[in-house]
Amino acid sequence: MKVIETEWVQGFIRMCSDGFEQGWHERNGGNLSYRIRPEEINEVRDIICDDREWTDIGTTVASLAGEYFLVTGSGKYFRNVSPDPEANICIIKVNEDGTKYKILWGLCKGGRPTSELPSHLMNLEVCKKRDENIRVVYHCHPANIIALTYVLPLEDRVFTRELWEMATECPVVFPQGVGVVPWMVPGGRDIAIATSEIMKERNVAIWAHHGCFACGEDFDISFGLMHTVEKAAEVLVKVMSMTDRKLQTIQPEDFRALNEPFGIKVDERFLYEKKSDIIGRGL
Ligand code: 13P
Ligand code: ZN
Repeated sequence: MKVIETEWVQGFIRMCSDGFEQGWHERNGGNLSYRIRPEEINEVRDIICDDREWTDIGTTVASLAGEYFLVTGSGKYFRNVSPDPEANICIIKVNEDGTKYKILWGLCKGGRPTSELPSHLMNLEVCKKRDENIRVVYHCHPANIIALTYVLPLEDRVFTRELWEMATECPVVFPQGVGVVPWMVPGGRDIAIATSEIMKERNVAIWAHHGCFACGEDFDISFGLMHTVEKAAEVLVKVMSMTDRKLQTIQPEDFRALNEPFGIKVDERFLYEKKSDIIGRGL
């Protein structure tokens, strides 16, 4: 079987195309990673090649030692993944102390894994610790989420509450809320640490004036989560374009009423009493 024929590589490729079609991946914007299952890497073990050199990750991910990942290439365009996967994505392996990676397949025309590899691997590491089933980390540049980082205070509480209020499904889809990382230089260890601090307990981290990270068990769940957050952000942008105050909205007791029927526990920290009715100024 060819690498690109496997179900997991097909799912990865489809997610890249879906994200591009949403307009979330201008140029080389965004990146995707998948922590490969042992039985999946066994499907392609005869094809992958283990003779390349080790390269520093730029951080340490000890709990991912010896694991395999499928990741997008740095500077590669999401729109090109489907027509030419082998040139735009790669399989890497992490070494035994979690400090280096090696390319085993892909990037056949040259290149290296995404510049956000430290963020992807550190997120995958903290996610694995809290839930072994989480395997996907997705980064993209969705316009409405980014727009909100110019007008809302960069507070987890404000972003979560305002996004939740934009659609009843939001607290059901992300009951732990979202976290916000202030503007930082992308591509390094510092922003990776800040993002993984959020991912220790939540599935969404917004990067101010840049984009968003989401994690999940599979491609559908991770893409669906990003789609839900960006849709809520779009509604909020529309509301804020019309007014700085809502005439009515979903109330804290309404959110609490979702807990039992949907089997969730909305995080009470986000159900604070608002001190102002100007959107985003209620803290
Ligand atoms: P890469 O092309 O290196 O993946 O970078 C894209 C990006 O979105 C950086 O944040
Ligand atoms: Zn980015």
